Amino acid sequence: MDAMDGLDVTACEECPELCASRSRIVNGVGPADADLLFVGEAPGEREDREGEPFVGRSGDVLDGALRENGLARADVRITNCVRCRPPDNRDPTDEELANCRGYLETEIEAVDPEFLVTLGKVPAEHLLDRSVTITDEAGDVVRAELGGAKRDVLLSVHPAATLYDPGQREAFERAIERAAAAVGSGDQATFGDF
Ligand code: URA
Repeated sequence: MDAMDGLDVTACEECPELCASRSRIVNGVGPADADLLFVGEAPGEREDREGEPFVGRSGDVLDGALRENGLARADVRITNCVRCRPPDNRDPTDEELANCRGYLETEIEAVDPEFLVTLGKVPAEHLLDRSVTITDEAGDVVRAELGGAKRDVLLSVHPAATLYDPGQREAFERAIERAAAAVGSGDQATFGDF
């Protein structure tokens, strides 16, 4: 049985392997009318334990970059393409992504953010429905039909990538800086300046 309560999925049995391995469903957090909606891939071990997206090491990186640009975690909404932790932190399968897509579409439509920010290759490819070379396209803004409307999507490398490849740190920081500027926060005055 699948069920949603507002933006929260309260029951879902669509993906047998994820249902067997998850501790809980990890829903999005943050204001239901946030200007920025960050979309990651899927919960990791810590997120599965605590029931909140991006609370592990990559969450620390994201929180730090937000703070650098005058934003608190509580100012933005953070969610994932898939709400249950894949075993051994493997990538979600196409079927799992498809099974969870309706929940994400509902969340995007309800939050109606000014900008979506994809964190990493998996959410970028899933939302744009094409292949993405994230190291080339990080920082780009593209239009996509999501949650019932044409929306601006800012592509970012995944915060975890900056931990195992410090060379990606600058691209990540630039993307978050650009996201903050898009909603009038941080040092950059306008989105059009980039
Ligand atoms: N990585 C993700 O993509 N999502 C999380 O919630 C945590 C780590």
